[in-house]
Amino acid sequence: MDRRIRDAFPLPAERPDFAPFSWKLDGGGRDLILDLITSRDVRVMIEVGVLYGGSALQWLRHKTDLTLIGIDPWAFDADQVRYWWGNRHAYGIDNLDAGGLSDDAFLNQLLRPEAAYFATISNLWDFRDRFVPIRGRSPEMLHTVAALGVVPDLVYFDSDKELVDLDVCRASWPSAIISGDDWWWSPEGQPDAYPVQKAVQDFAAKHGLTVMNHAATWYLAPGAAAEV
Ligand SMILES: C[S@@+](CC[C@H](N)C(=O)[O-])C[C@H]1O[C@@H](n2cnc3c(N)ncnc32)[C@H](O)[C@@H]1O
Repeated sequence: MDRRIRDAFPLPAERPDFAPFSWKLDGGGRDLILDLITSRDVRVMIEVGVLYGGSALQWLRHKTDLTLIGIDPWAFDADQVRYWWGNRHAYGIDNLDAGGLSDDAFLNQLLRPEAAYFATISNLWDFRDRFVPIRGRSPEMLHTVAALGVVPDLVYFDSDKELVDLDVCRASWPSAIISGDDWWWSPEGQPDAYPVQKAVQDFAAKHGLTVMNHAATWYLAPGAAAEV
């Protein structure tokens, strides 16, 4: 990994004073990504949409020479946090390991100023040698990463659902595996919209790629026929 990206996005000097926890928003099918990480010997991965680092922990624990560049603005306000917590069963409370905090302590921690960023850094602190947090938005930050000379093996999108970033990703790193989450996501009131499916299938058709999918997870493989 080029030193320039580490130097451009340094970690705090010490672990932030937030009790670590693990909460992944896992809609299923992530074995597809874990298998790719192993079979394609992925060493540099970009995750767009890190939230509190639950999925980042999945990737980093899976392969010990994997470096993860995580892009997220980490800018949730209190209303957003309360919304997630209020809907925690829909957001996969089964995937929460609160690190021994009570429900009240857990919520209070998330409501502290700048908790989104600093709790995530604390959650990933044990992996700080292999985790580069980039506080900002995609696609802008994808350009920044490319300009720093980084060439990822795999990019995983778990952020907004329009996926305007796909073109930037392909143009910057033609060989990188493009993947993501939210295959079955639709906005409230539009149950059959599936914007991720549409964006991914259009992109695959344009570039002659094959869509592979299991549960919420998808990736694009070389090949002409799109199949799901
Ligand atoms: C569903 S959560 C990610 C969940 C996480 N990958 C997990 O499984 O634990 C979506 C995240 O995307 C981030 N996000 C939204 N728009 C973004 C953008 N344009 N660039 C980067 N991150 C974005 C949000 O801040 C939020 O943290």
